[in-house]
Amino acid sequence: MLKNSNLSPKAISASRIVMTELMIPAYANFGGKIHGGILLSLMDKAAYACAAKHAGGYCVTVSVENVDFMAPVEVGELVSIFASVNYVGRTSMVIGMRVTAENVETGLVKHTNTSYFTMVAKDETGSPTLVPPLILESSEDVRRFWEAMRRKELKKQFKGDFDNEKNELNIDSALHHFEGERCVLGF
Ligand SMILES: CC(C)(COP(=O)(O)OP(=O)(O)OC[C@H]1O[C@@H](n2cnc3c(N)ncnc32)[C@H](O)[C@@H]1OP(=O)(O)O)[C@@H](O)C(=O)NCCC(=O)NCCS
Repeated sequence: MLKNSNLSPKAISASRIVMTELMIPAYANFGGKIHGGILLSLMDKAAYACAAKHAGGYCVTVSVENVDFMAPVEVGELVSIFASVNYVGRTSMVIGMRVTAENVETGLVKHTNTSYFTMVAKDETGSPTLVPPLILESSEDVRRFWEAMRRKELKKQFKGDFDNEKNELNIDSALHHFEGERCVLGF
């Protein structure tokens, strides 16, 4: 049974957070750039903090979307994660995150990625629990809510279509699609 005693609508601004961390050498990969996994871990923490503030309780990460790192992050840069609740369902919340990296010596700021994590609120028994509705305070909030709704619908549609194609896959007909692909048959 879903239960949550505090279900008054909450403003997005009430749970919006900014998390900032300096990138130290221990976070670097063999190429001297920051590991993608370090950034993912920071984003997961930011998503948790934002979701738990909105839900007023414990949350788990369920899905991670749109993680395309568009620019490398260097040691010595200051990474900031701007996180806010973009959408709420019954027990789930989509946290939108914009990640930037600032060169603290020059002040140059680059946008490394914008990603969306779906978090689900859990009650003390570990079951998903209702989260407060969201108060949309600006046309930007409305746009983000709509985008999250559409992403959710399209993801469901994609999953259905893809599962159907996989179930109907015939290896011989799949090979016709490989023309121009960089593979050779080894059997
Ligand atoms: C995800 C999880 C909560 C689903 O539990 P469930 O009992 O099947 O509950 P439901 O089917 O009612 O789903 C709960 C919500 O999650 C959403 N959800 C489930 N799978 C999802 C997915 N792959 N992507 C996005 N949302 C998803 C549902 O849409 C639902 O949202 P809503 O209540 O807002 O409509 C459960 O599988 C779980 O706890 N997973 C482990 C999460 C975890 O431990 N994360 C840490 C990673 S180590």
